[in-house]
Amino acid sequence: MSGKCITAVYPGTFDPITNGHTDVIGRAAGLFDRVIVAVAAVGGGKNPAFDLGRRVELARLALAQWENVEVRGFDTLLVEFARAVGARVLLRGLRAVSDFEYEFQLSGMNRVLAPELETLFLPTAEQHAYLSSSLVREVAALGGDITAFVHPEVGAALTHRFGKSSV
Ligand code: COA
Repeated sequence: MSGKCITAVYPGTFDPITNGHTDVIGRAAGLFDRVIVAVAAVGGGKNPAFDLGRRVELARLALAQWENVEVRGFDTLLVEFARAVGARVLLRGLRAVSDFEYEFQLSGMNRVLAPELETLFLPTAEQHAYLSSSLVREVAALGGDITAFVHPEVGAALTHRFGKSSV
């Protein structure tokens, strides 16, 4: 062992966190000394359904079982956040080939901005490959059963947010 303490940052919008994210994070918790789940205030032109504080809170509830996982919000460039927390790795999940083009672009931009950071990809477990936060929100908004996709506390928050309203 090199004795190096490696921190990985796993960024996203997490609107809300799903079991697909949790699967990637749990596996990362076994690979890195510290994993920081970085919840972006805004990302990719999205208009989140949950505000930043709530997205952070729900991610903390869903990830409470891992002692080396922290959840933090950020509203700066990702690379600035990663530098501030002493990270060496930017971690992203890949669900399908269709994710690759955007992820390759993101990692290329981040490499130019911060060459000392490495982007690593973990493939999403196949049973979660179809999941996305927006699909889960849509199912919740239309009254569908979301228990297979999210932590129970997240499910309750979705029901409260969308329960009886339209999308
Ligand atoms: N399981 C289930 N769903 C997954 C998943 C997994 N393992 N991995 C990704 N997803 C889904 C997300 O739920 C999300 O679904 P949605 O689009 O329906 O909401 C989608 O895949 C991708 O979203 P996410 O992983 O949250 O990434 P993002 O594209 O929203 O995040 C940031 C992009 C936040 C990383 C990027 O905008 C960023 O770095 N912003 C900070 C500002 C910055 O530095 N900008 C310059 C970047 S070069």
